[in-house]
Amino acid sequence: MTRKCCAIYTTGFVCAHLLTVGIALVIEITLTEKSQVFESWKNPPPSYLEYYFFNVTNPEVFMAGGKASVKQIGPYTYRVHRPRENVTFLENGTKVYALNPKTFVFVPEKSVGDPQVDIVRTVNIPFVTIMNELNSYSFLLRSVFAMYINSLDIKLFMTRTVHEVLWGFKDPLLTKLHSMKPEVDEYFGLMWKNNGTHDGEFVFHTGEQNYLDYGKIDTWNGMREMSWWSSNQSNMINGTDGTVFHPLINRNELLYIFAADFCRSIHLAYVEDVEVKGIQAYRFAPPSDVLMSPKNNPTNAGFCVPAGDCLGTGVHKVSVCREGAPIVVSFPHFYQADRAYINAIDGLNPNKEEHETYFDLQPMTGVPIRACKRAQLNMILKRVAGFPKTKNITETIFPIMFVNEMATIDDEPAAQMRSLVYIVVNNKIRYIKYTEVGMCKTVALMYSMECIMLKFQ
Ligand SMILES: *[C@@H]1O[C@H](CO)[C@@H](O)[C@H](O)[C@H]1NC(C)=O
Ligand SMILES: *[C@@H]1O[C@H](CO)[C@@H](O)[C@H](O)[C@H]1NC(C)=O
Ligand SMILES: *[C@@H]1O[C@H](CO)[C@@H](O)[C@H](O)[C@H]1NC(C)=O
Ligand SMILES: *[C@@H]1O[C@H](CO)[C@@H](O)[C@H](O)[C@H]1NC(C)=O
Ligand SMILES: *[C@@H]1O[C@H](CO)[C@@H](O)[C@H](O)[C@H]1NC(C)=O
Ligand SMILES: *[C@@H]1O[C@H](CO)[C@@H](O)[C@H](O)[C@H]1NC(C)=O
Ligand SMILES: *[C@@H]1O[C@H](CO)[C@@H](O)[C@H](O)[C@H]1NC(C)=O
Repeated sequence: MTRKCCAIYTTGFVCAHLLTVGIALVIEITLTEKSQVFESWKNPPPSYLEYYFFNVTNPEVFMAGGKASVKQIGPYTYRVHRPRENVTFLENGTKVYALNPKTFVFVPEKSVGDPQVDIVRTVNIPFVTIMNELNSYSFLLRSVFAMYINSLDIKLFMTRTVHEVLWGFKDPLLTKLHSMKPEVDEYFGLMWKNNGTHDGEFVFHTGEQNYLDYGKIDTWNGMREMSWWSSNQSNMINGTDGTVFHPLINRNELLYIFAADFCRSIHLAYVEDVEVKGIQAYRFAPPSDVLMSPKNNPTNAGFCVPAGDCLGTGVHKVSVCREGAPIVVSFPHFYQADRAYINAIDGLNPNKEEHETYFDLQPMTGVPIRACKRAQLNMILKRVAGFPKTKNITETIFPIMFVNEMATIDDEPAAQMRSLVYIVVNNKIRYIKYTEVGMCKTVALMYSMECIMLKFQ
């Protein structure tokens, strides 16, 4: 109801204006069925996910206490479709519920090899997870389990095909545990059971009440905030899911996104003006303080769990949301991290070009013209009591793989965006915020020559 009244009111206002001055251009940027951005929000064009792995070349050296050496292999590229499903409007159209299932299809022509054939030697993640879990057991139980596991002669590094590591394989150790504890899954894979599934139920603000709320997450799996971090500020679910941003972006603001890989919200700050397919855009990227150690950025102390147990700059422990596994996320090659993490491994070479995360946003509409989201998965390897094989290893945050998700606006919507910007710029259009027009607080662009309804896809 509100929405309809709003659209009519806005158009009505504009068209009354148009009779006297000329004609107007109205673009509604809200998540409502008739808005121009809704269709592309609901059915976004596919993006590409590139997986890179760190192939360990000297496991014996590392086991003996030396420095590990890795060789990056990849990309193994998948096309990702992520339609919004079960879309339901709530609370008079001010909020919208949606699921976002993802389907991955391998793209051989954008990959270095066949993931079913190519082999990678990496950390035996199930084994390290289980060793770590034993720490919470009583001494007796731990000793018995450790003795049993040692008798199985399982190695700290496993050699598997890329496909197995990503999409799952029947792990010998997990299979053994499964026979004792049926709730343990026999299969392990970084993306096991992730094809075709969604990462939670989201409720978004439609932006109808306030354009600054457009696309902002209201709840995730029914939660308004998380509970696993150790401060209220860290637990906040801020911003959007990174697929949309509010219109009328200004260079001085911080934009927030909820980064599911990091189990937390992060902020983005303006970096520079860029041009993509002839469209001027603002580049926003996470500034270095996002993953800074609490010593240098005290607001990050809330991400140390248990409180006070903090790592250095550029790495973020996510055990709390990975069932206790000693998983650490970072930017690829420890970009922006303490030199110590980079130097601990041979074969890393962090650089802005290949490893930075950024969003290029058309400032008037907030539409991402190009985005690169990058994250690396690492595991803490250290000596574990009861496991003589780990006795000599130096505690290391060990890189396993990183992902690079890229999307650039298609040519046709890019052409539409260029004409919109052209019209606005060449006619010195002031875009007007209808923040308090009646019940409606939406954004419209006004143009005093011709009435065009633009559609973004
Ligand atoms: C989404 O919709 C489908 C059918 O349209 C239904 O089977 C499914 O249970 C719904 N999912 C949720 C989480 O509501
Ligand atoms: C929806 O709108 C009606 C009428 O404007 C109002 O009475 C009702 O309280 C609103 N409901 C919510 C959940 O905002
Ligand atoms: C994911 O599922 C789709 C169909 O549901 C299938 O075509 C595709 O090959 C699967 N991807 C992988 C990596 O298994
Ligand atoms: C990774 O390392 C293993 C062991 O050295 C080797 O057999 C394999 O060919 C390497 N994989 C790639 C893709 O180079
Ligand atoms: C966090 O929020 C809860 C409830 O919202 C409040 O009871 C608690 O005191 C807050 N904690 C801190 C450290 O501010
Ligand atoms: C969430 O946003 C508030 C400001 O609105 C900020 O103080 C807080 O640090 C943010 N939290 C995270 C985790 O980004
Ligand atoms: C650990 O180092 C000691 C001394 O160098 C050596 O004797 C022992 O075999 C090593 N253990 C393992 C598991 O590598």
